[in-house]
Amino acid sequence: MKRVIFNQKGGVGKTSITCNLAAQFAKMGRKVLAIDLDPQANTSQYLLGDSYNNVEGTVADFFSELLSFKIFKGSLAAAIHKTAIPGLFVIPSSKDLAELQQKLENRYKIMKLAQALESLVSEEHFDDVFIDTPPSLNFFSMSALIAADSILIPFDCDAFSVKAIHQVMNIVDEVREDHNPHLKVEGIVINQFQSQAKLPQESINSLMQSGLSVLTPYLTHSVAMKESHEKSMPLVFMRSNHKLSQQYQELAGNLLGSRQKKKAGKRNQSLLKGPAEAGL
Ligand SMILES: Nc1ncnc2c1ncn2[C@@H]1O[C@H](COP(=O)(O)OP(=O)(O)OP(=O)(O)O)[C@@H](O)[C@H]1O
Ligand SMILES: [Mg+2]
Repeated sequence: MKRVIFNQKGGVGKTSITCNLAAQFAKMGRKVLAIDLDPQANTSQYLLGDSYNNVEGTVADFFSELLSFKIFKGSLAAAIHKTAIPGLFVIPSSKDLAELQQKLENRYKIMKLAQALESLVSEEHFDDVFIDTPPSLNFFSMSALIAADSILIPFDCDAFSVKAIHQVMNIVDEVREDHNPHLKVEGIVINQFQSQAKLPQESINSLMQSGLSVLTPYLTHSVAMKESHEKSMPLVFMRSNHKLSQQYQELAGNLLGSRQKKKAGKRNQSLLKGPAEAGL
Protein backbone atom coordinates (compact mmCIF):
# COMPACT_ATOMS: atom_id res chain seq x y z
CA MET A 1 0.00 0.00 0.00
CA LYS A 2 1.37 3.40 -1.01
CA ARG A 3 0.52 6.30 1.25
CA VAL A 4 1.19 9.98 0.65
CA ILE A 5 1.42 12.31 3.64
CA PHE A 6 0.32 15.70 2.41
CA ASN A 7 -0.86 19.08 3.62
CA GLN A 8 0.27 22.21 1.82
CA LYS A 9 0.47 23.96 5.21
CA GLY A 10 4.01 23.96 6.57
CA GLY A 11 5.14 22.47 9.88
CA VAL A 12 2.04 20.35 10.55
CA GLY A 13 4.00 17.10 11.06
CA LYS A 14 4.26 15.54 7.57
CA THR A 15 7.89 14.47 8.05
CA SER A 16 7.46 13.30 11.66
CA ILE A 17 4.41 11.23 10.73
CA THR A 18 6.00 9.78 7.56
CA CYS A 19 9.15 8.64 9.37
CA ASN A 20 7.59 7.41 12.59
CA LEU A 21 4.81 5.46 10.88
CA ALA A 22 7.33 4.01 8.40
CA ALA A 23 9.65 3.02 11.26
CA GLN A 24 6.77 1.56 13.26
CA PHE A 25 5.53 -0.49 10.29
CA ALA A 26 9.11 -1.81 9.84
CA LYS A 27 9.22 -2.70 13.55
CA MET A 28 6.04 -4.69 12.97
CA GLY A 29 7.96 -6.85 10.48
CA ARG A 30 6.99 -5.17 7.23
CA LYS A 31 9.32 -4.17 4.41
CA VAL A 32 8.90 -0.42 4.14
CA LEU A 33 10.10 2.31 1.79
CA ALA A 34 10.02 6.01 2.70
CA ILE A 35 10.35 8.46 -0.19
CA ASP A 36 11.37 12.06 0.41
CA LEU A 37 10.01 14.47 -2.20
CA ASP A 38 10.75 17.64 -0.26
CA PRO A 39 13.93 19.54 -1.26
CA GLN A 40 14.27 20.51 2.45
CA ALA A 41 15.24 16.81 2.80
CA ASN A 42 14.11 16.51 6.42
CA THR A 43 13.01 12.89 6.03
CA SER A 44 16.39 12.04 4.45
CA GLN A 45 18.23 13.65 7.36
CA TYR A 46 15.94 12.10 9.97
CA LEU A 47 16.35 8.56 8.61
CA LEU A 48 19.97 8.64 7.41
CA GLY A 49 21.59 11.10 9.84
CA ASP A 50 25.11 12.22 8.90
CA SER A 51 25.45 9.60 6.20
CA TYR A 52 22.93 11.64 4.20
CA ASN A 53 25.72 14.21 3.60
CA ASN A 54 27.66 11.73 1.43
CA VAL A 55 24.73 9.89 -0.08
CA GLU A 56 24.90 8.90 -3.74
CA GLY A 57 21.62 8.30 -5.54
CA THR A 58 18.62 10.45 -4.70
CA VAL A 59 15.14 10.94 -6.08
CA ALA A 60 16.54 13.96 -7.98
CA ASP A 61 18.73 11.59 -10.05
CA PHE A 62 15.63 9.68 -11.07
CA PHE A 63 13.80 12.86 -12.14
CA SER A 64 16.87 14.30 -13.81
CA GLU A 65 17.36 11.19 -15.95
CA LEU A 66 13.76 11.48 -17.14
CA LEU A 67 14.85 14.69 -18.85
CA SER A 68 17.95 13.18 -20.42
CA PHE A 69 18.09 11.67 -23.88
CA LYS A 70 19.48 8.32 -22.69
CA ILE A 71 17.56 5.30 -23.95
CA PHE A 72 17.77 3.50 -20.63
CA LYS A 73 16.62 5.98 -18.03
CA GLY A 74 17.66 5.58 -14.41
CA SER A 75 15.42 3.55 -12.20
CA LEU A 76 14.16 4.48 -8.78
CA ALA A 77 15.76 1.31 -7.40
CA ALA A 78 19.23 2.86 -7.76
CA ALA A 79 18.27 5.49 -5.17
CA ILE A 80 17.14 3.08 -2.42
CA HIS A 81 19.25 3.20 0.76
CA LYS A 82 19.17 1.11 3.92
CA THR A 83 18.47 2.89 7.20
CA ALA A 84 19.59 1.88 10.71
CA ILE A 85 16.14 0.38 11.26
CA PRO A 86 15.83 -3.19 9.95
CA GLY A 87 13.25 -3.41 7.19
CA LEU A 88 13.13 0.36 6.60
CA PHE A 89 14.59 1.81 3.39
CA VAL A 90 14.62 5.37 2.09
CA ILE A 91 14.86 7.16 -1.24
CA PRO A 92 16.37 10.47 -0.17
CA SER A 93 15.68 13.89 -1.57
CA SER A 94 18.04 16.59 -2.76
CA LYS A 95 17.91 20.37 -3.03
CA ASP A 96 18.37 19.84 -6.81
CA LEU A 97 14.67 18.99 -7.00
CA ALA A 98 13.79 22.68 -6.92
CA GLU A 99 15.55 23.50 -10.19
CA LEU A 100 14.20 20.39 -11.98
CA GLN A 101 10.61 21.26 -11.30
CA GLN A 102 9.87 23.63 -14.18
CA LYS A 103 11.48 21.37 -16.81
CA LEU A 104 9.59 18.32 -15.55
CA GLU A 105 6.34 20.27 -15.74
CA ASN A 106 7.06 21.54 -19.24
CA ARG A 107 7.72 18.02 -20.46
CA TYR A 108 4.63 16.46 -18.87
CA LYS A 109 6.44 14.02 -16.57
CA ILE A 110 3.67 14.03 -13.95
CA MET A 111 2.82 10.31 -14.31
CA LYS A 112 6.42 9.07 -14.19
CA LEU A 113 6.72 8.59 -10.42
CA ALA A 114 3.49 6.58 -10.37
CA GLN A 115 4.72 4.30 -13.16
CA ALA A 116 8.19 3.81 -11.68
CA LEU A 117 6.82 3.16 -8.20
CA GLU A 118 4.36 0.57 -9.43
CA SER A 119 7.21 -1.55 -10.87
CA LEU A 120 9.53 -0.89 -7.94
CA VAL A 121 7.04 -2.08 -5.33
CA SER A 122 6.43 -5.36 -7.11
CA GLU A 123 10.09 -5.97 -8.04
CA GLU A 124 11.46 -5.17 -4.57
CA HIS A 125 8.50 -6.64 -2.64
CA PHE A 126 7.79 -3.62 -0.46
CA ASP A 127 4.76 -4.05 1.80
CA ASP A 128 4.34 -0.33 2.38
CA VAL A 129 5.48 2.97 0.90
CA PHE A 130 5.24 6.31 2.71
CA ILE A 131 5.82 9.47 0.65
CA ASP A 132 6.74 12.74 2.36
CA THR A 133 5.83 15.88 0.42
CA PRO A 134 6.84 19.56 0.45
CA PRO A 135 4.51 22.13 2.03
CA SER A 136 3.03 23.24 -1.29
CA LEU A 137 1.04 21.93 -4.20
CA ASN A 138 3.74 21.61 -6.83
CA PHE A 139 4.98 19.05 -9.37
CA PHE A 140 6.39 16.77 -6.67
CA SER A 141 3.43 16.72 -4.29
CA MET A 142 1.12 16.26 -7.31
CA SER A 143 3.27 13.34 -8.55
CA ALA A 144 2.98 11.75 -5.11
CA LEU A 145 -0.81 12.20 -4.99
CA ILE A 146 -1.04 10.52 -8.39
CA ALA A 147 1.27 7.65 -7.34
CA ALA A 148 -0.44 6.88 -4.03
CA ASP A 149 -3.28 4.56 -3.07
CA SER A 150 -4.23 6.68 -0.11
CA ILE A 151 -3.58 9.99 1.61
CA LEU A 152 -2.98 10.73 5.28
CA ILE A 153 -3.55 14.40 6.09
CA PRO A 154 -1.73 15.77 9.13
CA PHE A 155 -3.64 18.37 11.15
CA ASP A 156 -1.79 20.42 13.76
CA CYS A 157 -4.83 21.76 15.65
CA ASP A 158 -4.00 25.35 14.74
CA ALA A 159 -6.85 27.81 14.05
CA PHE A 160 -5.86 28.20 10.36
CA SER A 161 -5.54 24.46 9.82
CA VAL A 162 -9.22 23.69 9.30
CA LYS A 163 -9.19 25.85 6.18
CA ALA A 164 -6.04 24.06 4.97
CA ILE A 165 -7.76 20.67 5.35
CA HIS A 166 -10.66 21.79 3.17
CA GLN A 167 -8.14 22.99 0.57
CA VAL A 168 -6.48 19.53 0.66
CA MET A 169 -9.87 17.90 0.10
CA ASN A 170 -10.44 20.10 -2.98
CA ILE A 171 -7.02 19.08 -4.29
CA VAL A 172 -7.86 15.40 -3.70
CA ASP A 173 -11.11 15.80 -5.67
CA GLU A 174 -9.19 17.32 -8.56
CA VAL A 175 -6.50 14.60 -8.53
CA ARG A 176 -9.21 11.93 -8.53
CA GLU A 177 -10.99 13.54 -11.43
CA ASP A 178 -7.91 14.15 -13.58
CA HIS A 179 -5.38 11.43 -12.80
CA ASN A 180 -5.95 8.99 -9.96
CA PRO A 181 -9.61 7.99 -9.44
CA HIS A 182 -8.57 5.39 -6.81
CA LEU A 183 -6.95 7.85 -4.39
CA LYS A 184 -8.56 7.16 -1.03
CA VAL A 185 -8.63 9.55 1.92
CA GLU A 186 -7.50 7.24 4.69
CA GLY A 187 -7.99 9.99 7.24
CA ILE A 188 -6.79 13.02 9.12
CA VAL A 189 -3.94 12.48 11.59
CA ILE A 190 -4.27 14.79 14.57
CA ASN A 191 -0.82 16.00 15.61
CA GLN A 192 0.46 18.10 18.52
CA PHE A 193 -2.87 17.62 20.31
CA GLN A 194 -3.25 19.38 23.66
CA SER A 195 -6.20 18.04 25.59
CA GLN A 196 -6.31 20.92 28.10
CA ALA A 197 -7.01 23.54 25.42
CA LYS A 198 -10.57 24.02 24.10
CA LEU A 199 -9.80 25.09 20.53
CA PRO A 200 -8.16 21.87 19.27
CA GLN A 201 -11.15 19.71 20.20
CA GLU A 202 -13.55 22.26 18.68
CA SER A 203 -11.55 22.25 15.42
CA ILE A 204 -11.56 18.44 15.36
CA ASN A 205 -15.33 18.41 15.97
CA SER A 206 -15.85 20.77 13.05
CA LEU A 207 -13.83 18.43 10.77
CA MET A 208 -15.90 15.44 11.89
CA GLN A 209 -19.14 17.38 11.38
CA SER A 210 -18.15 18.02 7.78
CA GLY A 211 -17.95 14.26 7.29
CA LEU A 212 -14.17 13.85 7.35
CA SER A 213 -12.60 10.76 8.82
CA VAL A 214 -10.41 11.57 11.82
CA LEU A 215 -7.98 8.82 12.79
CA THR A 216 -7.29 7.74 16.35
CA PRO A 217 -5.45 7.95 18.61
CA TYR A 218 -4.52 11.62 18.47
CA LEU A 219 -0.77 12.32 18.56
CA THR A 220 0.00 14.60 21.47
CA HIS A 221 2.60 17.34 21.74
CA SER A 222 5.96 16.34 23.16
CA VAL A 223 9.44 17.87 23.08
CA ALA A 224 10.75 14.32 22.65
CA MET A 225 9.77 14.56 18.96
CA LYS A 226 12.14 17.49 18.42
CA GLU A 227 14.91 15.60 20.25
CA SER A 228 14.41 12.59 18.02
CA HIS A 229 14.80 14.80 14.92
CA GLU A 230 18.01 16.24 16.40
CA LYS A 231 19.33 12.72 16.97
CA SER A 232 18.20 11.53 13.50
CA MET A 233 16.34 8.59 14.98
CA PRO A 234 12.55 8.17 14.76
CA LEU A 235 10.98 8.49 18.19
CA VAL A 236 9.28 5.08 17.96
CA PHE A 237 12.75 3.56 17.67
CA MET A 238 14.62 5.88 20.02
CA ARG A 239 12.12 5.69 22.90
CA SER A 240 9.57 3.00 22.19
CA ASN A 241 7.96 3.35 25.65
CA HIS A 242 7.34 7.07 25.33
CA LYS A 243 3.66 8.08 25.37
CA LEU A 244 3.89 9.58 21.87
CA SER A 245 5.60 6.42 20.54
CA GLN A 246 2.78 4.35 21.97
CA GLN A 247 0.26 6.56 20.21
CA TYR A 248 2.19 5.97 16.97
CA GLN A 249 2.17 2.21 17.63
CA GLU A 250 -1.58 2.26 18.14
CA LEU A 251 -2.16 4.40 15.05
CA ALA A 252 -0.02 2.05 12.93
CA GLY A 253 -1.93 -0.93 14.33
CA ASN A 254 -5.24 0.74 13.44
CA LEU A 255 -4.05 1.53 9.89
CA LEU A 256 -2.92 -2.03 9.36
CA GLY A 257 -5.87 -3.56 11.17
CA SER A 258 -8.52 -1.74 9.20
CA ARG A 259 -6.83 -2.73 5.97
CA GLN A 260 -6.48 -6.35 7.00
CA LYS A 261 -10.10 -6.42 8.15
CA LYS A 262 -11.17 -5.02 4.79
CA LYS A 263 -9.04 -7.60 2.98
CA ALA A 264 -10.52 -10.43 5.06
CA GLY A 265 -13.99 -9.04 4.38
CA LYS A 266 -13.31 -9.06 0.65
CA ARG A 267 -11.94 -12.60 0.86
CA ASN A 268 -14.98 -13.80 2.75
CA GLN A 269 -17.22 -12.20 0.15
CA SER A 270 -15.15 -13.91 -2.55
CA LEU A 271 -15.50 -17.26 -0.82
CA LEU A 272 -19.24 -16.78 -0.58
CA LYS A 273 -19.34 -15.92 -4.27
CA GLY A 274 -17.19 -18.87 -5.36
CA PRO A 275 -13.87 -18.56 -7.19
CA ALA A 276 -15.13 -17.94 -10.74
CA GLU A 277 -17.63 -15.24 -9.79
CA ALA A 278 -15.07 -13.59 -7.47
CA GLY A 279 -12.57 -13.40 -10.32
CA LEU A 280 -10.07 -15.73 -8.58
N1 LIG B 1 3.80 15.55 18.22
C1 LIG B 1 4.74 16.51 18.21
N2 LIG B 1 5.09 17.12 19.37
C2 LIG B 1 6.01 18.12 19.38
N3 LIG B 1 6.65 18.57 18.30
C3 LIG B 1 6.33 18.01 17.12
C4 LIG B 1 5.36 16.95 17.00
N4 LIG B 1 5.28 16.59 15.70
C5 LIG B 1 6.14 17.37 15.03
N5 LIG B 1 6.78 18.22 15.88
C6 LIG B 1 7.80 19.25 15.56
O1 LIG B 1 7.17 20.22 14.73
C7 LIG B 1 8.08 20.67 13.74
C8 LIG B 1 7.45 20.43 12.36
O2 LIG B 1 7.29 19.02 12.18
P1 LIG B 1 7.57 18.34 10.79
O3 LIG B 1 8.91 18.73 10.28
O4 LIG B 1 7.29 16.91 10.96
O5 LIG B 1 6.44 19.06 9.93
P2 LIG B 1 6.31 19.16 8.35
O6 LIG B 1 4.86 19.27 8.04
O7 LIG B 1 7.06 18.06 7.72
O8 LIG B 1 7.06 20.53 8.03
P3 LIG B 1 7.38 21.10 6.58
O9 LIG B 1 6.09 21.62 6.05
O10 LIG B 1 8.39 22.20 6.83
O11 LIG B 1 7.94 19.98 5.77
C9 LIG B 1 9.38 19.89 13.95
O12 LIG B 1 10.27 20.70 14.70
C10 LIG B 1 8.96 18.67 14.77
O13 LIG B 1 10.00 18.24 15.63
MG1 LIG C 1 8.55 18.08 6.21
